This record gives sequence, structure tokens and C-alpha cells, in this order.
Amino acid sequence: MQRLAKKWQRAGTRIGLVPTMGYLHAGHLSLVQRARQAIGQRGVVVVSIYVNPTQFGPQEDFSRYPRDLKRDLKLCRDAGVDVVFTPGDGEMYPRWGEAPDEPAREDARPTSGFSTYVVEEKLSQGMEGAARPTHFRGVTTVVAKLFNLIQPEVAMFGQKDFQQAAIIKRMVADLNFPVRIVVAPTRREPDGLAMSSRNKYLVGDLRRQATILWCAIQMARATVKKSRTFPAVKLTAAVKKLVACEPDARLDYVEFFEPDTLAPVAEVRRGTQMALAVFVGRTRLVDNAQL
Ligand code: PAJ
Repeated sequence: MQRLAKKWQRAGTRIGLVPTMGYLHAGHLSLVQRARQAIGQRGVVVVSIYVNPTQFGPQEDFSRYPRDLKRDLKLCRDAGVDVVFTPGDGEMYPRWGEAPDEPAREDARPTSGFSTYVVEEKLSQGMEGAARPTHFRGVTTVVAKLFNLIQPEVAMFGQKDFQQAAIIKRMVADLNFPVRIVVAPTRREPDGLAMSSRNKYLVGDLRRQATILWCAIQMARATVKKSRTFPAVKLTAAVKKLVACEPDARLDYVEFFEPDTLAPVAEVRRGTQMALAVFVGRTRLVDNAQL
């Protein structure tokens, strides 16, 4: 991949990257479209598909994360993607488990043979970072590796993972990666549910209950529209109460914060960013929006 990227660069070919974990949906494909817009018809759009083990906690869904490479490749071809990069664990984290081509054990961590990580220390403290302690270390590390392998001029990320995008932007600025980060809006289902590969887990009535995240965002927006400022603690309590109306939904967190610094606010107003994580059954969903 790196050799190919260097060849493109020598030829003056522009490179756009869309990093993903696969099981692609319209949200991913909107990033592909934007990558194409950013680099033009003569540039190359690279989609990486890699379910990155280091960003999953030991109790999380790494082994059962949805995978369908054949379907993903077709979607990429139809969307005009030039190259799909699908490395294996043995390539990304050498000596994962034992032999490079041996499938990873469920409890195996890629610590043997790999010991250098990229860690963002401020923006990754709260929200997803607090709920999933080593998650962002895995994300920044794998994204740094992908930048070094693919050497893109521009890389696309989704607003859907607001904190992730903020952390990647900070990493790029702090470590002088020669890449421009573009953040694209969240694509939603007609009923407001943010598109996500994990929505596959939502069977039966759980799919309906999952719209509670969008309902919570709508409620917060309506509140801010009505009263110019509103105490964050009161709105937090209201969201908690709303989520509790669904039998299988449990609020993990809701936060109100400044979009640039991620600093929590005491008073919610127009422009405040809201983010929440909700368990719907065993599935943990996240969403966020500017109010
Ligand atoms: P994944 O969850 O596959 O998402 C890949 C990219 O698609 C991310 O930038 C994400 O924010 C964006 N995305 C997801 N759902 C979206 C939606 N409904 N609308 C718009 N964009 C959406 O995020 C990851 O993978 C990984 O952490 C990764 C960055 C690839 C590192 O492993």
C-alpha cells in the first residue's frame, strides 16, 4: 500500500482516504462522495476496511462486529472507489497472537510485537473516552498507521463520531500530519436513527426503541428554542427520564459541551453540542448534534 501511495505521489496523483471498519452504509458512502469532490476525477479515492482490535475493550463486540467484505467491495465499486485497502491483523499488528495468518483469539490483545501507540490526552478524557478507556488510543494509533500507509492529502470523517473527529483533528495538528481532515454530516434513516454498522444488531422492537436517541436530540433542540438558555443538569434529567420510557433502553451518558473544546457547559444554549450514548438491549448506540 505504501509503495503504491508513493508511486501515486511521484505521478502527482491526489489521494483521498475514507477510513472505515466496513459493513458499509450510506453514511460511509457519503464520505466517499465527498472524498471524490475534494480530490477530483483524476485523483484516487482509497477506502480502508479494517475492524481494528485495539479500539475495542475486552468486553466489547470485536469478534461479533458485522463483517461482509463481498458486499462492501460491490458497494465501493458502484460508488467509484479506486482502491479498497483491507489489511489483516498480522499486517497491522505484527505477531498478533502467534503466526501472522493465524486467526486472532477472542481474548488476545495485540501487545506482543507491537508497543508504540499514539495517545491524545485531553479531548479523549470525557464521554466515549470515559466509557471506553482504551478506545481512542486504538483509534488514533490505527488512523496514524493508515495515514503513514496511504499518505492521503485529505481524509474524511463523520460528524456521527463527533469526539473521534475532534481527536483526529487534534492529532493531525499536534503531530504535523500532512493531511487535511474533512468532517461530513451524519446520515440518518427516515425516522432519524443515525446510520451505523451496529444498527444490524437491532432486531424486532429494539429497532423502534433506538429512535429514542433522535427523540432526545429533538427534545433538547425544542427546549433551547423555547428558552434561550437552560440548565444542563435539568436537561440531563429530562433526557434520562425520556430514555427510561423505552423498556430496553438505558442511558449511558448525555453531555452538553462547547463544540470546539468539548468543555462541558452549565447552561445549554443555541450552538451547544449535545452527545449521548444509550444501550438499546445489548447494543450501545451513540449520537450527537448541535442544538
Ligand atoms: P466506522 O464506524 O466504520 O466509521 C467510519 C467513518 O464513517 C467514521 O468517520 C464515521 O464517523 C463515519 N460514519 C459512521 N456513521 C456515519 C453516518 N451515519 N453518517 C456519516 N458518517 C458516518 O469510525 C470508525 O469506523 C473507526 O473508528 C475508524 C476511524 C475507521 C478507525 O478504526
